[in-house]
Amino acid sequence: MHRADRLGRELGFEPGALFIKRDDLTAFGVGGNKARKLDHLCTEAIERGCDTLVTGGAAQSNHVRMTAAVAAMLGLGCVVVLGGREAEAPEGNLLLDRVFGARTVFTAATYSDELEGAILEEAERLRGAGHVPYPIPLGGSSPIGARGYVDAAREIEDETAGDPVVYTACGSGGTHAGLVAGLGDHSRVVGVDVGAVRRVGDKVTALARETAAASGLMEPRGEVRVAGGQVGAGYGAPTEAAREAILLTARREGIVLDPVYSAKAMAGLIADRRAGRLAADQPTVFVHTGGLPALFTSRYRGWLSGDGASPGS
Ligand SMILES: Cc1ncc(COP(=O)(O)O)c(C=O)c1O
Repeated sequence: MHRADRLGRELGFEPGALFIKRDDLTAFGVGGNKARKLDHLCTEAIERGCDTLVTGGAAQSNHVRMTAAVAAMLGLGCVVVLGGREAEAPEGNLLLDRVFGARTVFTAATYSDELEGAILEEAERLRGAGHVPYPIPLGGSSPIGARGYVDAAREIEDETAGDPVVYTACGSGGTHAGLVAGLGDHSRVVGVDVGAVRRVGDKVTALARETAAASGLMEPRGEVRVAGGQVGAGYGAPTEAAREAILLTARREGIVLDPVYSAKAMAGLIADRRAGRLAADQPTVFVHTGGLPALFTSRYRGWLSGDGASPGS
C-alpha cells in the first residue's frame, strides 16, 4: 500500500487520503491483479489433479500471460485460446505467453461468449488426448477466482483507516466483485468500466453475490457502482484522460499505469475528484491492477511519446 501524497496534492486531496494498492507488483509473471485470482483457481486445479491450464482472451490479455507464467511456475501445461489472427512479430503479452512456454491457439471468435466456448472446446480436445485440463474462464472471473479480491479487501481494511472508497478498473468484473464481496457493501467500490464486456454492472452484481456466498460471507449491501465515461472509442482505445493519468501518476509518484485498464481507472478517479464526487478528505484506495506489457506494444508507441506538452512536466 503506497501513500500517494504528491499525486493526492495535485488532485486536491488532503495529505494521507489517497493510497495506491500495488497489485501490479505481485511476485511472478510481471505482476498484476490476476495473481490473486490464479492463487485460488490453481489451488483447485491441483486439488483436482489437473495437468494443464486452459484459458483465453485477446492477444494482449494480461490474464492469459499470468496464467502462462503460473503454469510454468507450478509445472503444469498451458494452452491459451486467443481471439484474432496470429501476429507476424509477437509483442507485449503475446510475446511473454511464448516466453513462458504456453501453446497458443488462434480462433476467429471475438465475443466473450464465443471465446468461453472455444476454451471449453480446447479443454475437451485435451481430455480426448489423455490430459486432465483445468479450464479457466476469461479474466479468471469466477466466484473462485474473485475470492482473490476478498483477500485483497481484508488487506485494504488492515492497511488503511476510515472505511476507504476503493477504485479499480472493471474489465471482466471479478476484481470489482471480489472487493465488494470482501467489503460487504457496493458503496465502498467504484469500478471504472474499460469496455471489455457489455453491461458489466449486471455481471458484477451477480458475481459479487456468488463470491460472497462461496466465501461464507453475507450478501453485499447496496447498488453496484460502475463509472462509465472513460472507455473512449472502445476497449483499449487511447484517450486523452488516460494519457493524462499515466503522465501525472508517473511524474508525481514514479508509478507506471497501463493504457488499457489502470490508466482509465485512474482517469475515472481523477474525474470524480475534480467534479467533487470524491471529497478532499475521503480516504481513497486506487488498486493498481498491473498490465504494464501493453504499454510497450506498437499501438501506444506514438500516443505516449507524442507532443511533449504534457501535464506535470
Ligand atoms: C491489468 C488489468 N487490470 C484490470 C483488469 C480488470 O480486472 P477484471 O477482469 O477482474 O475486471 C484486467 C483484466 O481484465 C487487467 O488485465
